[in-house]
Amino acid sequence: MSSEQAAGAGGGLGTSGGRSGSGDASDAQVVVIGAGPGGYSAAFRAADLGLKTTLVERYDKLGGVCLNVGCIPSKALLHAARVVAEAQEMAAHGITFGAPQIDLDALRGWKEGVVGKLTRGLGVLARQRKVEVIHGAARFQSPSTVVVGDRTVSFSHCIIAAGSRAASLPSLPDDPRIMDSTDALSLRDIPERLLVIGGGIIGLELATVYDALGARVTVVELLDELIPGCDRDLVAPLAKRISSSYEAIHLGARVTSVKALQDGLEVELSGGGDEPQVFDRILVAVGRTPNGLAIGVDAAGVTVDSAGFIATDRQMRTNVPGIYAIGDIAGGPMLAHKASHEGKVAAEVIAGVPGAQFDARAIPSVAYTDPEIAWMGLTENEARATGVEYERAIFPWAASGRALCLGRDEGITKLLLAPGSRRLLGAGITGVGAGELIAETVHALEMGSDAEDLAFTIHPHPTLSETIGLAAELAQETITDLIAPGLGGRAGS
Ligand code: FAD
Ligand code: NAI
Repeated sequence: MSSEQAAGAGGGLGTSGGRSGSGDASDAQVVVIGAGPGGYSAAFRAADLGLKTTLVERYDKLGGVCLNVGCIPSKALLHAARVVAEAQEMAAHGITFGAPQIDLDALRGWKEGVVGKLTRGLGVLARQRKVEVIHGAARFQSPSTVVVGDRTVSFSHCIIAAGSRAASLPSLPDDPRIMDSTDALSLRDIPERLLVIGGGIIGLELATVYDALGARVTVVELLDELIPGCDRDLVAPLAKRISSSYEAIHLGARVTSVKALQDGLEVELSGGGDEPQVFDRILVAVGRTPNGLAIGVDAAGVTVDSAGFIATDRQMRTNVPGIYAIGDIAGGPMLAHKASHEGKVAAEVIAGVPGAQFDARAIPSVAYTDPEIAWMGLTENEARATGVEYERAIFPWAASGRALCLGRDEGITKLLLAPGSRRLLGAGITGVGAGELIAETVHALEMGSDAEDLAFTIHPHPTLSETIGLAAELAQETITDLIAPGLGGRAGS
């Protein structure tokens, strides 16, 4: 919707619970704090809706965690890891390559080049939209002003998009060989032995990278499962693959002490063997902490919880009229696509776009491990916890021609359906490229599709996308590639 449409249709700035926009003497109609995917999306959408917008970012580069030290650099390195792994996998099928020669400077340079292209692009987009960019750390001074260095900026509306930072383990010594995800992505060297503390998404994605580059990886996870919360059957193929390629995976275990020795970091584990072990580096990946307690929100009267999250309603409003919060700081899931979606909602609410609110039915999650794990909508864990009834159809990739051609048939495609109507409630996919495949199911869920819709959709052959249609055919008992459970088969029940 254009700015003209927005103003005409929704009453424009000032009708949305903020301070009046007409005759506004503020420096900016909208100030956005933080230029991550949430903040830059909000600022650009606000500018496109005709609002005078200022974007404040404490660092020199725009793009936040995602572009600079998160999604993008990790995915560049994970691509490199996939190429190494694929070359090795071909040995079983008759083609043997030599051991990879890794030029770490060149690899790092390529990754930084990818990041640089995207962050520079954001600068260009900001200038083209006439979004004022101020570099410096913002703090609230009042409900209508922020201070950045020696400058005070007054606003009619403010969108807090200050993101999150890596959580630390205070019991560990202060030692440069102990890394967070940002250090790990800087790829200083390839340690001979790497200990990853935390078997969540960050820990396992970065373990994938370092394993492919030649490190011997050990993972320690506090709970008794990898990627806690994700359905077990989706994690199982990953757990099986890495339990044979990594040095060790300790579940239900914790690090009880780390001593910084000259030759390495001596680690004692509870639940992970009796002998202390020496590692060259440790990656701490035990979650992320929102920055809500670090931007002076008290001065504005914005309520923040003890963890640092700022609560919002579906229009991304905080408890203070005119102040909004989006992205990681506004609660989980801490994902870039959730942040940017919320950013656009906040900008549209401020501009008075009718009906603007966060009403997505599913936010997909993807672990870009090898194999990838992707899920959206209802999970079996949630269904069991909340008593939601569902039917389940699972297509095993062992019956997918394309998966066999790729030499990776360990995956599954799972659909959760409402009993009776067979409306799609959720989906989970494990296998190479699962992150790309899940998008079809998100769209299907948003459109209210049922198993018949998915089964009648002609998928190109031979592709992994077919597995979605085939899972739906299993539910419909129209499948010919397998025998449906109701017709005497066992797979898919
Ligand atoms: P951020 O991206 O954290 O941006 C906040 C910005 O605010 C930062 O630039 C910060 O410098 C700035 N800021 C903070 N305080 C101030 C202040 N006082 N004044 C001015 N500026 C301030 N998500 C995915 O969806 N897919 C992935 O593949 C993925 N991979 C990840 C990999 C890693 C290693 C990590 C760490 C995260 C990953 N994430 C991924 C999560 C994703 O990066 C975050 O969910 C996303 O960046 C959140 O966006 P945001 O805009 O809320 O905040
Ligand atoms: P996480 O919360 O997903 O996982 C942290 C893991 O560490 C948990 O399994 C937890 O049980 C474990 N843990 C906590 N304390 C521990 C201890 N003392 N010893 C051993 N294990 C311990 O957090 P993570 O992986 O740091 O990622 C943070 C968030 O960043 C994710 O939840 C996700 O929202 C986002 N992210 C998304 C990605 C994607 O979409 N592909 C990639 C990377 C991050």
